[in-house]
Amino acid sequence: MDRLLIEGGTPLRGEVLISGAKNSVLPVLAASLMGEDPLNIDNVPYLQDVVSFTQLLSGMNAKVTLGEKGRLRVDPSPLNHPHASYDIVRTMRASILVLGPLLARFGEATVSLPGGCAIGTRPVDMHLNGLKGMGAEIDVSDGYIHARAKRLCGTALKLPQPTVTGTENLMMAASLAKGETLIENAAREPEVEDLARCLVKMGACIEGAGSERIRIEGVDNLHGATHWVLPDRIEAATYLAAGCITGGCVRVNQVSPRFMGAVLHKLEECGANIESGEDFIELDMRGERPHALDICTAAYPGFPTDMQAQMMAISAVAQGASSITETIFENRFMHISELARMGAKIRVQGHTAIIEGVERLSGAPVMATDLRASACLILAGIAAEGETIVNRVYHIDRGYEHVEEKFRRLGARVQRLSEQVFA
Ligand code: EPZ
Repeated sequence: MDRLLIEGGTPLRGEVLISGAKNSVLPVLAASLMGEDPLNIDNVPYLQDVVSFTQLLSGMNAKVTLGEKGRLRVDPSPLNHPHASYDIVRTMRASILVLGPLLARFGEATVSLPGGCAIGTRPVDMHLNGLKGMGAEIDVSDGYIHARAKRLCGTALKLPQPTVTGTENLMMAASLAKGETLIENAAREPEVEDLARCLVKMGACIEGAGSERIRIEGVDNLHGATHWVLPDRIEAATYLAAGCITGGCVRVNQVSPRFMGAVLHKLEECGANIESGEDFIELDMRGERPHALDICTAAYPGFPTDMQAQMMAISAVAQGASSITETIFENRFMHISELARMGAKIRVQGHTAIIEGVERLSGAPVMATDLRASACLILAGIAAEGETIVNRVYHIDRGYEHVEEKFRRLGARVQRLSEQVFA
């Protein structure tokens, strides 16, 4: 398993280009199953989760071809096996996103239950109840979801709480249903809006994506299109956080600042000077140590849970005491024990962590447990005194394209140690 070797203590300076968003390209790949002809997807980030999703589509006999400059082309016409097996789904929960498209386009789907992951049980009851509300017959047995529907019928759905992939699954299913579907209490994330933009290019009739009320008028079929994936706001925020934790100056290019208000506001609270334009953001700490901050994660447009771990790394070296409350997932504090190995002073009360900032963390061997915890540990290692080794780096490769190259461009001393597996 690869590891990252980090020599910390250098303020980061420089700029990086942000890649396409993981949490947008995955639902867009699922939507590619719905067209009568190929979908071209541009600005695709080279990530393990994207590779896994293309394997999932190829396993159904959809034709996936990699073009030049990050273009993926998916031709669903040869598809004859609407099945998502456990061996892929267990490595990537987002596979659940093929359920709605397969059911709507082919009338049947067999998709492994995703099961939980490190950060929580991650149930999919809202996905299944919504599809049942649209007339699907759903049986769950042997760890699989067996779904069928002659044709889904539009209906009024009110989600008990916002679910990102649940909203996306139901929006895709409704696009080919008969009649109108209204999704209330829908997730408002920009990635939901980006998916809707792609579906509309394919011929869907969708209004209100990005708000809590989405109205979809079902159509009889969808056609191919070309879609450019929006930039990854969490990747961008992670590199800005790296500038913040090291007292440096970092600029991220090819981003949409308007989707990052909650995070930028918190970084300013840490003492960062932030300038932004149409497609860039520059953070400057002017050599200062960050100030303490209080954070409570929430569904968009609240503070994103996917930046909680990274902000905890900042608070670990901030001046003063911080509090961070995680309201979305029940077990998203696993980075705390690893930060403690580096000298962080953190105690947990229920869903809230109280962090006493220390002057300096000290480098240590640590273990990544999930995607964003890995990012947190890299930030901590870059800020710490001495050497840090982040183990199980396959977690970070799921969601951060060319991670060590991008950090090196900012002046971080990071190198990947690939374990030679001797035959
Ligand atoms: C999406 O996960 C993202 N993944 C996650 O990003 C992100 O953390 C999460 O949204 C929250 O923003 C993708 O978009 C591929 P949810 P998702 O359904 O859709 C509960 C990352 O790091 N729930 O919005 O799975 C659920 O347990 C990943 O990039 C149900 O109870 O999250 C959670 O407590 C991690 N029943 C809450 O809702 C359901 O049927 C929100 O989850 C569905 C969800």
